[in-house]
Amino acid sequence: MTKAHAVCCSLAAIALAGLATVRIVVAAHAADAASPDAPASNKAQIPWIVPDIDKLPDDDWGQTVRYGRDLVNKTASLIGPEVTDPGQRFAGNNLTCQNCHLEAGTKEFGLPFQGVYADFPNYRARSGSVGTIEDRIQGCMVRSMNGKELPPDGAELTAMVAYMKFLSLGHPVGAPTPGRGSAAMAELPRAADPQHGKAVYAQMCAACHGANGQGQRVGTVGDARGYVFPPLWGPDSFNDGAGMARLIVAAGFVHSNMPKGITWQQPVLAVGDAWDVAAFVNSQPRPHKENLEKDFPNRLQKPVDTPYGPYPDGFSLAQHELGPFQPIRDAIKKLMGQKATPASSSSAPH
Ligand code: HEC
Ligand code: HEC
Repeated sequence: MTKAHAVCCSLAAIALAGLATVRIVVAAHAADAASPDAPASNKAQIPWIVPDIDKLPDDDWGQTVRYGRDLVNKTASLIGPEVTDPGQRFAGNNLTCQNCHLEAGTKEFGLPFQGVYADFPNYRARSGSVGTIEDRIQGCMVRSMNGKELPPDGAELTAMVAYMKFLSLGHPVGAPTPGRGSAAMAELPRAADPQHGKAVYAQMCAACHGANGQGQRVGTVGDARGYVFPPLWGPDSFNDGAGMARLIVAAGFVHSNMPKGITWQQPVLAVGDAWDVAAFVNSQPRPHKENLEKDFPNRLQKPVDTPYGPYPDGFSLAQHELGPFQPIRDAIKKLMGQKATPASSSSAPH
């Protein structure tokens, strides 16, 4: 066990040991904090399978898939802003893909990559066009990683796609993958409350991510070794155009996966606390992505929690950031003059 792991695990133990009491202390909104359980619809139908990468032979394919996994869990060391070769500096922050796509993109409801390969190409509302899995990776490169696109014919993009294909073997094209995304969570009838979220953060998150949200480095700034605990805001975090900057996406991720070490079957945060703490995190400063107004050329397809305009529906920026979202959906439904797709914005991976 490395030193970093030891720190991580002992903090996890501390965080988990304090949970029973903490939930009572931080649950200010009694009405929505009653049940931390995931809705029944999230119950996975089939066993969650993590393909064994060690079974791959050491041939071209095996090496490419393993390089893909390395890029996912050692992103900062291979293509981060601090690597020695300036030509390899593609990510703009020192996060790893795995900081969000947990366990190298294999954790059930931890934004996994199983099944993703079979889902592309598909229609992307953000660009208003059909895009490939390569396009989708580039999206996370320029937003979640606050960086630039990988060379389209480079070894890195090929390896990442190969890894996703490896994880998706046996997932038929067109079939849903239960366990993908981060599990739908009940929405609140009220706006999320960042002030209360701040208290939840202090109790449940600060031990790892830092009171100032800047996380904890493995080593020192400039060594390209990334983080033990990633920053949640500030200059080295994802930018405001990233999926995680959307409240529904962040709250669902946090409820199913944080504090680190939990599973979606046994969430630790009450539902209301998950919404509020995610709202607090996303109310903090982070890098800005240019040209966001060009996203979602068909504005009626813009997810209701997109934290930047323009909007087609007349609701305020604050309500798009914090909810409640159902009134916005109802207005969009009217504008479309047809039946709205229920919870269209919570089917995050699509
Ligand atoms: C800050 C968190 C974060 C980081 C870091 C991140 N992603 Fe993502 N990624 C997301 C979220 C959230 C989604 C899905 C939600 C959305 O964007 O609407 C997503 C979606 C994806 C998808 C589509 C998944 C699906 O189910 O359709 C791929 C592929 C992907 N990311 C690849 C990557 C790669 C490769 C990296 C590293 C280079 C990376 N991501 C880094 C948060 C992140
Ligand atoms: C026990 C330590 C620990 C605690 C407590 C914890 N986290 Fe995390 N969190 C992590 C680690 C480690 C990662 C990166 C996952 C990985 O690399 O495996 C992470 C990743 C994240 C991410 C995605 C990565 C990013 O940079 O944005 C978010 C968002 C997040 N945590 C939010 C929270 C919130 C909110 C809380 C409090 C409710 C919390 N975490 C509590 C350890 C922790």
